[in-house]
Amino acid sequence: MAEPTRAGGGASTIAIVDVPRSDLPARLSEAMAIYVAAMGYPSSSGPQRGTHLMRHASFDSFRFRAALNAEGKMLGFGYGYTSLPGQWWHDLVTRAISGDTEHWLGHAFELSELHVTPPAQGTGLGERLLRSLADGLPHRTMVLSTPEGENRAWRLYRRMGFYDLARNHLFPGDHRPFGVLGALLPFPPPTGAGSEEPTALSR
Ligand SMILES: CC(C)(COP(=O)(O)OP(=O)(O)OC[C@H]1O[C@@H](n2cnc3c(N)ncnc32)[C@H](O)[C@@H]1OP(=O)(O)O)[C@@H](O)C(=O)NCCC(=O)NCCS
Repeated sequence: MAEPTRAGGGASTIAIVDVPRSDLPARLSEAMAIYVAAMGYPSSSGPQRGTHLMRHASFDSFRFRAALNAEGKMLGFGYGYTSLPGQWWHDLVTRAISGDTEHWLGHAFELSELHVTPPAQGTGLGERLLRSLADGLPHRTMVLSTPEGENRAWRLYRRMGFYDLARNHLFPGDHRPFGVLGALLPFPPPTGAGSEEPTALSR
């Protein structure tokens, strides 16, 4: 079990915890509020994304990690699963990427969501969540898509070694162009630090 580390610029202790499938319904509205705030989406999009999340929770190798403060309040979360043919994102991206599709998508962990509540952004929680999600995965790669732009998400993914698999890709039903990115696993270790084991969620 990792010792919770201090982050967030304040005195609170923030732990990265594994949230098992069975605990997700109780955490869903909290997570979706973070999703909506982090992405700047209308609050009505939260329940819809929550429905997707509960469906994704049955996918192979699903894992969900949360950043919790000392009071148990969620400050960020990330989740993903094995990317497989027949899944919406996998099939669209298979057709979109140039290069070695089998190498990137043949044994891939798909990062579906990674969000930190705006007041806690920029203090390293996103990287801690990402490293915790990747820790010990048997997959060859991690793949994701993120809206195009110069922002903290892109800085994080570049820092972690993500390559461009496709740029300015348009997904059905979304007018924004996305970058599709992939990284080899395991990630390079952070300078002067080891991997972060999640703390078991006991509530
Ligand atoms: C993308 C996102 C998840 C990244 O999480 P984050 O916690 O904000 O960012 P990181 O973990 O990368 O933190 C890195 C920043 O914190 C700083 N940092 C890292 N460790 C730190 C520490 N221990 N103490 C203080 N600051 C630290 C770094 O200097 C870095 O700053 P920079 O990005 O300005 O260069 C988050 O910003 C977010 O939710 N954004 C909006 C939603 C989004 O785009 N999600 C991704 C869609 S795919």
